[in-house]
Amino acid sequence: MFQLDGNPIAFSKGDSILQAAHKAGYYIPHLCFHPDFKAHGSCRLCVVDVKGKTVSACTQPAEDKLEVYSDTAELRQSRLRLIQLLFAEGNHYCPSCEVSGNCQLQALAYDLGMTHYHYDPFSPLRQQDGSHSQLFIDQDRCIQCDLCGRASQEQDLKSVYLLAGRGQDTHLAFRSHNGQLGSTNASMDDRAAHICPVGCILPKAGNYPDIAGERLYDKIPIHTQGNHRRDEGGQDEP
Ligand code: FES
Repeated sequence: MFQLDGNPIAFSKGDSILQAAHKAGYYIPHLCFHPDFKAHGSCRLCVVDVKGKTVSACTQPAEDKLEVYSDTAELRQSRLRLIQLLFAEGNHYCPSCEVSGNCQLQALAYDLGMTHYHYDPFSPLRQQDGSHSQLFIDQDRCIQCDLCGRASQEQDLKSVYLLAGRGQDTHLAFRSHNGQLGSTNASMDDRAAHICPVGCILPKAGNYPDIAGERLYDKIPIHTQGNHRRDEGGQDEP
């Protein structure tokens, strides 16, 4: 048992703080974490305070008697800055995005009270990819969580998607002779095709299936239903 913001949390051997919190029904903000895949530890949204040190809850193993703090003014502020940085690094025009209302980045921005950009937008112009018959890739919305890469490798057993480049040049890439998604064996049936938490990997058909106001995060803020995800039809994470 450990304490999360004063609440007792039971855990199983091998659980991270984030896994244990989620199983107990407590939400710790996250973007690159998914319970079905190995933790990536890159987005830093899940950073919590343990004994005065900040650690990523998705990679830090749960331990007996730990006192963990997640819901503090300092952590909310640092999460807000991270979200504002992600908005500045990509082109996230929520009102016209197919995933508006179902997007974890947008939902977290609302949840953390983001009202403005804070950082000057980089306005990237990365190469878009419409080469696949059923999928479209908007590179400028990629938040580099590598969930598609992990899903493709660990569950689809294809390794189609990967992160290439370094630093500011890091971008989503595809393992094919010409670097295009259409030249891979990616399919709409792949888990990777449905796992993007934002609007980077999109089906070419069937977008805007729900009217505004009826989407996953339209009615209920993400922190009260953070264990639901659109890639699972809004069902609870296991
Ligand atoms: Fe832990 Fe992204 S969810 S670093």
